[in-house]
Amino acid sequence: MRDKIEIIKEIYQIGDDMQERKEALQKIAPYVDEIMKAFYEKLLQKPQIAAFIPLERIEELKKKQIKFLQDLLTLPFDEKLYKRIAQVAIAHYHIKLDPLYMSYGYHVLSDLILAQSQKDPSLLPYLKLIIKYLKVAEAIMSEEYFAQKTLAESPYRANDLFVAINILHMAYVRCQDSFARMEVDKEAKEMFEHSLQELQPYRRILEEAGFNLSAIKRFCTQFANEPNKQNLEHLRHSIERPLADLRVSAYLSTDSALVLLRTMTDIIYRRNVTKEQRLDIPIIKQTIRRLLAHNFGWAIERLDFFEEEPKEECDIAKLLAYKDHIFYIVIDCADIANKLYVLESIDLILEAIKLTLYLRSKEEK
Ligand code: HEM
Repeated sequence: MRDKIEIIKEIYQIGDDMQERKEALQKIAPYVDEIMKAFYEKLLQKPQIAAFIPLERIEELKKKQIKFLQDLLTLPFDEKLYKRIAQVAIAHYHIKLDPLYMSYGYHVLSDLILAQSQKDPSLLPYLKLIIKYLKVAEAIMSEEYFAQKTLAESPYRANDLFVAINILHMAYVRCQDSFARMEVDKEAKEMFEHSLQELQPYRRILEEAGFNLSAIKRFCTQFANEPNKQNLEHLRHSIERPLADLRVSAYLSTDSALVLLRTMTDIIYRRNVTKEQRLDIPIIKQTIRRLLAHNFGWAIERLDFFEEEPKEECDIAKLLAYKDHIFYIVIDCADIANKLYVLESIDLILEAIKLTLYLRSKEEK
């Protein structure tokens, strides 16, 4: 993240301008409410963008926008501010707002801010500074939007790992014949070494499973140089146990994929978070807690609910709403090798819950 911050500083020539930024905020403060009102009016005029704006949340969103502008103009330009901006990008990523619409929003906001100079031309330099910071925020949000997309697509990388492991298995099986003869089959050895090479990108994940690629390669060379019983034992020891462990992990992963599918189906079709006739917030929280505990209890390190947006860092912080009541669920996951996938799965479950809560709220209106 530091690298990105440095590049952004260079592009936008950000130096020590804290005083000027704070002054700019003071100058614009009297007009901020009016600007936000016009901002949402403009966005609502475009049906494709209006579809993303829940009318009942506009007042809350205005307040959040103003707080965002305040942070942008009063916080030092460092990792904390970068993360703050990234979180806003993530919020829009989750509602699947097209990045082009996001840019349109920035364009509208910048225009409205610049228009204030017609009232008082002396505001112009301050307004230009604010617009520069909006541009910075837009750049960070595009970057983080892209990062989220890459992250969401990452399960395909797991598929590459799956294929590479299968190839290694087959290559190892092919070596077995020559092991029995205590000889080196040159072709089988090359194939085996090639399959080890293919696994290099996953070295770290594999180490967690006791699979040390460089040790295996070393023992393989030792056996090739001196095909004797002791060297064969070393080679077998370094590979057979971890391969068996991986087979167990594959079984567990299939199981957790099934768990995810079953939970999603239960939430969406059986409405198991919203089916109580008399639904209220404590019941919803209790059900969500039970559901996540049953399915991901092994991976969750912390699960809390908050009325306000949580300030501290966490793996997942998601806004949920039932009727007019808004609350946040916060989850931290244990430091496990497949954390990324567990987080994706929990996030999917929470999205499904969010959807059913929204539908139930609509039914009751
Ligand atoms: C142009 C189209 C835009 C639409 C349709 C839109 C819509 C939304 C919606 C629906 C949310 C609530 C997300 C949630 O809590 O699930 C939200 C949050 C937010 N938006 Fe936007 N937005 C737009 C542009 C912008 C722009 C240009 C900015 C900043 C300059 C911005 C700043 C924020 C902030 C600060 C939040 C609160 C994020 C949080 O809760 O962490 N939005 N927006």
